[in-house]
Amino acid sequence: MPDPQKIIILDFGGQYTQLIARRVRENRVYSEVVPWSLPAVEIKKRQPVGVILSGGPSGVCDPDAPKCDPAIYDLGVPVLGICYGMQLTAHLLGGRVERAAEREYGRVAVRMKESAGLLDGMKPHSACWMSHTWQVCQCPPGFRPIAETENCPVAAMADVEKQIYGVQFHPEVTHTEEGKRLLHNFLFGICHCAGDWTMDAYAETAIAQIRETVGETGTVLLALSGGVDSSVAAALIYRAIGNRLTCVFVDHGLLRKGESEQVCHVFSHLFPVRFIRADAADKFFADLKGVTEPEQKRHIIGRDFIEVFREEARKLGRLDYFAQGTIYPDVIESGQGTNAAVIKSHHNVGGLPKELGFTQLIEPLRMLFKDEVRALGEALGLPHDLVWRQPFPGPGIAIRVLGEVTPEKARIVRESDAIFREEVAKAGLDQTISQYFTVLTNAHTVGVMGDERTYDYVIALRAVTTDDFMTADWARLPYDLIATVSARIVNEVPHASRVVLDVTTKPPASVEWE
Ligand code: XMP
Repeated sequence: MPDPQKIIILDFGGQYTQLIARRVRENRVYSEVVPWSLPAVEIKKRQPVGVILSGGPSGVCDPDAPKCDPAIYDLGVPVLGICYGMQLTAHLLGGRVERAAEREYGRVAVRMKESAGLLDGMKPHSACWMSHTWQVCQCPPGFRPIAETENCPVAAMADVEKQIYGVQFHPEVTHTEEGKRLLHNFLFGICHCAGDWTMDAYAETAIAQIRETVGETGTVLLALSGGVDSSVAAALIYRAIGNRLTCVFVDHGLLRKGESEQVCHVFSHLFPVRFIRADAADKFFADLKGVTEPEQKRHIIGRDFIEVFREEARKLGRLDYFAQGTIYPDVIESGQGTNAAVIKSHHNVGGLPKELGFTQLIEPLRMLFKDEVRALGEALGLPHDLVWRQPFPGPGIAIRVLGEVTPEKARIVRESDAIFREEVAKAGLDQTISQYFTVLTNAHTVGVMGDERTYDYVIALRAVTTDDFMTADWARLPYDLIATVSARIVNEVPHASRVVLDVTTKPPASVEWE
């Protein structure tokens, strides 16, 4: 199976580097982010069809500014420098870069001097997203300016003969009106990409690679959480080696309604791996008894998880590989961007593989973004609702029960949450709200049901919209939806007497309540 056509993105530490990689892949062209220091010979070995230089916080004239190997301009493949990437290109190839008289930040009107090549089909005036203090004042020999702004004489430049380009603005952000078109022009008009990278093709390559790595008889252990990443990893590895894959699912009794059953069904019937469910709910609840401090709750859950998993793994005897669902943003954020092994603590559940004595890791999703993992899950035939599951914290609903967690309180959260999810889906909003769930507050309030006085729990509805979960806004749910959810919860869930809505942004609040 040949490698897919790829674009290599040199990362200079810009905040949008991941976004560039995603935008390229949205065009069905595979992209990889590598450190800026990767030598040109190494880049050549990867046979890219084009190279993009990302933005970055440095000024090219700083003595310790990152400078890529200038031989990348002689690889014979097109190069596009974005922001810092353009300034560096100008600097390395004999142009002049200076501190701008006026810093440009935000949406800026850019005048395109032509409508061909990189700027093919673009309007003469286009709003573009800028964020720079330095700028190119004079193009290097062989280049000509192809766009300008009021303050920036070279907002884009081109050496059409050598196929080297630069843009001062950020085509990857949505605020740049015609950014998509510009990237499309670079990928298809200039790099002549085929745009044939699909998840089916990825699955085929990944399956072949797993077979090659694991060999004819090798065995693999995977910790299945019930979340999207570990489920997709399991399905993929199953397709490669069948039930030489063993999945251990630690059921801590803190999942959402129906999830445990779904995991068991999918991996016993649809993907019949060697499946082990450790029913450890009693242990988790026993150890959480009387514990009210959120960090302590998280700590106990993490510790118990490892204990239970280790015990199950011990019973299984020796297996050759440990598989985990590390995804690309973690790889990029850890600064690796290469094929070196990356083990992030939250992905291997506190150093699990090392503790269990595994030296060989398989991470079949490490080159995929979250949306691609979901697309791969669909391509492999995992159920739609599993693949599109909203994010769910490792400690589960324990951090959605304020204070002490008991089976009874967990049940109240599970039931009310199921109602909320059902109604959001009915309203057709399940793909537009990023995350939504119920929280059992520790507050009791007085109510009246029938002719009886009640004194029961307050349930909070939490729903947020966000791109990255670093910041979030509270979702403006329709009143009718809130009314239905509230009425159903107090009517159908015993001991829920009142429903309130959380209208706090992050920051200052976090998404979860604990
Ligand atoms: P916060 O509450 O930090 O949540 O604003 C941001 C996102 O992270 C999820 N979250 C977790 N995920 N383990 C996880 O795997 C955790 O301990 C954890 N805590 C929060 C949360 O659900 C939200 O999507």
